[in-house]
Amino acid sequence: MDRLHIQGGKPLEGEVRVSGAKNASLPILAATLLASEPVAVGNVPHLQDVTTMIELLGRMGVTVTVDERMRVEVDARTLRQSVAPYELVRTMRASILVLGPLVARFGQADVSLPGGCAIGARPVNIHVAGLQAMGADISIENGYIRARASRLHGARLVLDTVTVTGTENLMMAAALADGQTVLENAAREPEVVDLADFLNAMGAKVRGAGTDKIIIDGVEKLHGAQYDVLPDRIEAGTYLLAGAITGGHVIARHMRPEHLDAVLAKLQEAGAKLDIGADFVAVDMRGRRPKSVDVRTAPYPAFPTDMQAQFAALNTVADGVGTIIETIFENRFMHMLEMRRMGAEIRLEGNTAIIKGVPKLQAAPVMATDLRASASLVLAGLVAEGRTEIDRIYHIDRGYESIEEKLAGLGAEIRRVPS
Ligand code: EPU
Repeated sequence: MDRLHIQGGKPLEGEVRVSGAKNASLPILAATLLASEPVAVGNVPHLQDVTTMIELLGRMGVTVTVDERMRVEVDARTLRQSVAPYELVRTMRASILVLGPLVARFGQADVSLPGGCAIGARPVNIHVAGLQAMGADISIENGYIRARASRLHGARLVLDTVTVTGTENLMMAAALADGQTVLENAAREPEVVDLADFLNAMGAKVRGAGTDKIIIDGVEKLHGAQYDVLPDRIEAGTYLLAGAITGGHVIARHMRPEHLDAVLAKLQEAGAKLDIGADFVAVDMRGRRPKSVDVRTAPYPAFPTDMQAQFAALNTVADGVGTIIETIFENRFMHMLEMRRMGAEIRLEGNTAIIKGVPKLQAAPVMATDLRASASLVLAGLVAEGRTEIDRIYHIDRGYESIEEKLAGLGAEIRRVPS
């Protein structure tokens, strides 16, 4: 298992190119199952989770080719079996995204039920209830969701909780259903909009994505398309925080600043100077110590849970006391315990972390527990005194393309060490 070694204390300076979004690539690759012709998807990031999704499609007999620039071509006509096996689902919960497309297009799906997860229980009851309301016959057998349907029909669905992949699964299923589906209380994340745009590029009739009411008029068939995935707002935000926490000057390029409004507002509150262009953001924190900020996570367009850990890292060295409230996942504070081992002053009370900034963190061996927690430990390592060693970095490789090369490009002293 590889580790990252980071020698902290250097302000980061320079430009970084933001990759395609993981959380848009995964549903879009799942949606290729819906098409009756080959489709091509570009700007796909080279990440472990993307590889897992491609492997999942391949196991089903789908023809997938990937070129050296990560342009992925998928032909779902060769599908042999509609099965998502446990050994893949347990490594990536987002495998559940094949459930809706499989049952809509092929009338059957056997998808392993994801178990618990490092950040919370994360049930999929809303995905299942929505498909049932659209006419699927669903049972749980031997740990698998077994779904059967001749053809799904449209339905009016009011989602109990705002769920990103739940909205995506039902939107994909509805694209080929008979009649109209209305999703109320839908997730409004940019990745949901990107998926809707991709579905429409294949001939689907989806309106309202980006609002909490999505209307889908089912069609008989979807055709081939070429589509480029949108840039990753969480990756962009993470590099901007790396600039801010180190007292540096970082420009994130090839991104969509409008998807990061809540994050950029917090960076400004922390004292960063921002220069925001059409497709870039520059953060300048040279010569200043960040100020503590209060953060409360909530569905888009509010502050994203996927940036919570990174702001926790910022608060550990900021001037003042900052409170982080996590409202989406019940167990997403594991990084706080590791940061304490680096000298951070953090008090935990249920879903609230109260962080009193210290002048310096100290390097320590720490362990990555999930993707965003790992990113926050990298940020902490970049400002800590001495060499931080981060273990279990396979979590980082699930969601950050070439993180050590990108950070080294900004002047960080970071090295991947095989152990
Ligand atoms: N929920 C239910 N029932 C359901 C579905 C969700 O109760 O059927 C609850 C969850 O337990 C959670 C809340 O609803 O408390 C919201 O979870 P959501 O379903 O929106 O999360 P997700 O779709 O499983 C996606 C991202 C996550 C991101 C969350 C929240 C993908 C592949 N994953 O997960 O990304 O944190 O939305 O924005 O899109 C990451 O990239 O590190 C990551 C974890």
